[in-house]
Formats: sequence, C-alpha cells, structure tokens
Amino acid sequence: MLDATFSPRAPREDLAATSYAPAPRPAPAAMPLPHLYARVAKHVLPAEWPLIARDVEAIERLKRERNAVILGHNYQAPEIFNTVADIVGDSLALAREAVNVDADVIVMAGVHFMAETAKLLNPAKTVLIPDAKAGCSLATSITAADIRLLRQHYPGVPVVTYVNTSAEVKAESDYCCTSGNAVKVVRHVAREWGVNRILMLPDEYLARNVQKEVPEIELIAWKGHCEVHERFTPQDIRDLRENHPGVVVLAHPECPPEVVAAADYAGSTAGMADYVRDEKPARVVLITECSMADNVAVQHPDVEFVRPCNLCPHMRRITLPNIRRALETMTTQVEIDPVVADRARAAVERMLAIR
Ligand code: 13P
Ligand code: SF4
Repeated sequence: MLDATFSPRAPREDLAATSYAPAPRPAPAAMPLPHLYARVAKHVLPAEWPLIARDVEAIERLKRERNAVILGHNYQAPEIFNTVADIVGDSLALAREAVNVDADVIVMAGVHFMAETAKLLNPAKTVLIPDAKAGCSLATSITAADIRLLRQHYPGVPVVTYVNTSAEVKAESDYCCTSGNAVKVVRHVAREWGVNRILMLPDEYLARNVQKEVPEIELIAWKGHCEVHERFTPQDIRDLRENHPGVVVLAHPECPPEVVAAADYAGSTAGMADYVRDEKPARVVLITECSMADNVAVQHPDVEFVRPCNLCPHMRRITLPNIRRALETMTTQVEIDPVVADRARAAVERMLAIR
C-alpha cells in the first residue's frame, strides 16, 4: 500500500507556493544575445537560454573561422532555425541556394539526403552533416537496384525521383523533383520526352496527389511513405475543424490523398509558409512536421496557429551542440563516389533547369 505522503496526487501546497511557482520571465533585453532570444522566447525557457546562447556564439565564431554557412530546413527546431541558420527554406530552396553559396564549408541543418544534394551541387566544398544518422523513411524505401528492376519492367518510361532519396537512387533517375515543383517537372518530362507515362518514385502519396493535377499523364508510383505525414488522417482534419472553428487547413503533399482532399490547400513547406504570408488567415493549422508552425509563427504574431504535433525523429537529430561539434571537428563530411555523383548531379541539374 502506498503511503499517502508519496502519492503523486497528495497536495504539496508548501512546494506549490515556493519552488513550483513559475519564475517571472526576464525581459529579452536582460538575456545574452537579446535580439535572438526575442525570436525564440516562446519556445525556450529563460533558464535554458544562457547555455543555448553559448553554443550560438561559438557556432558564429566557428562559421567566421571556417568560412562556413549553415543551411536550415523549415523543420529545424526554432533555436536552430531562428539563430545560426544563414539560409532557410524548403528542400527546393536549399538545393537552389546550395549552388550560390560563397563559402568553403556548408553545414546542413537538415537530413542526410539534403546534405548529399548540397554536396552534389558543390563538389569542391566541404559539406558537413552534424549527425550522419539523420535519415528519412522515404530515402530508405527504395534502392538503386529497385530502379534498375523497374526500368526493365517499364522500358522507355522516364524516371522522376523525389529529392528525398540517396545519391545512388538519383544516379539511376532521369530527373529529380521536390514537393514544390513536382507538377511542373512531370509536365515538362511528358512534353520533352513525348510520353504519357512516368515512373514517379518513391513517395506513393506525393505521386497520387500530383496525379490529380495531371490526369493526362499516368504516374506509376512506389510504396514509399513519409513516417511523419502518413500518420495524419481525414478524421484528424474533421476534429481540427470542429474544435477550432474557422481554421484554415494547409497540408504537405506527402500526406495521404484523403488528407490533402480534406485540406484547404496543399503545398511544400515553403508553399505553406507563403500561403500564411499572402493570405494571412486568422487561424491556421499546418498538417506537417510540428517545428514548421513554430518557425512560421515567429514571422506572423497576429495569426493563431493550431498545433497538432508530429515530430520528424531524423530532423531532431540535429542540435546546436552537434552543429558546434561538426564545425570544431569538421565531421561528418559527406562524400559521394564520383561516378555516382556525376550521374546524380545530372538528374538534380535537369530539375533545377526547369523554371
Ligand atoms: P519540402 O521540400 O516541402 O521542404 O519537404 C521536405 C521534406 O522532407 C518534407 O517532409
Ligand atoms: Fe523524411 Fe518525412 Fe522526415 Fe521529411 S518529415 S525528412 S520526408 S521522414
């Protein structure tokens, strides 16, 4: 039998009145790096900030010493996205910016396929990924051998692969695409190749969502899924609308088609951020990885963000301490076999050439 004193329900008014009372938040100006603290104050406790600020200062110094830039994906935690990241965006923007980067070192605050894409486009630069295990369920859903088999099965059918794939898979592809340009890429390929069938790999849901936009082209899909977006259901959207009247629902096209159909808009992470900037909905929910809403909300204090939370465990592997360590030790460097890299780069460059 539990002694009542140790019951978690036992009221401890003495403690509640003293140690459990929330300490008053110091004004951002009283904190180190106050301009940065102001951006993350909603997500970082005042007591945590001095340690975080120490990493931020060290990273800024290391960036100057190494002539490094940090590319930050929209899903990065607010204390990375709003502080040390020099260039932020969706995977298309990061791929485009990687070409223009004037630095010796690129640190990818994102997942491994994004770091590989940066390396493909900057073969002479050092590209660092702070945790080499930051993967992606889509990237592991298909191999280069799978694509070779599919080509045997569908001779003459062009292969468009999502950038969320390994360099080896990109090397077997004719074109890459991102969620931001997928419709444009498949239309371009159908026109240029004079075909009405395309293998669109590996994200089944992205292919099915794009299919609705291009009924004139037959898209052959694979069974890859994003482990974050596949968890959303149409019932989630109905519940959100019931519990938050008037909420505008924006969904990422990696969500199942029934979820996209229940949303008001579907687009890449940048597409969703642009929608909020342009349409300024009073109340919005982003059906995607949850750090995204935290980051977009910083720019839009007048918009109410409803926040269901599905975190990407791979994105979460990137932290300020491991970004700092990556720059201190210059590890882990992304290396790609040169023969694979040449073929993979061609697929990415064909995508970037489509305007
Ligand atoms: P975006 O291209 O929209 O940034 O998406 C990348 C990604 O990994 C989404 O899960
Ligand atoms: Fe991959 Fe999904 Fe994570 Fe994006 S959110 S990196 S698609 S697992």
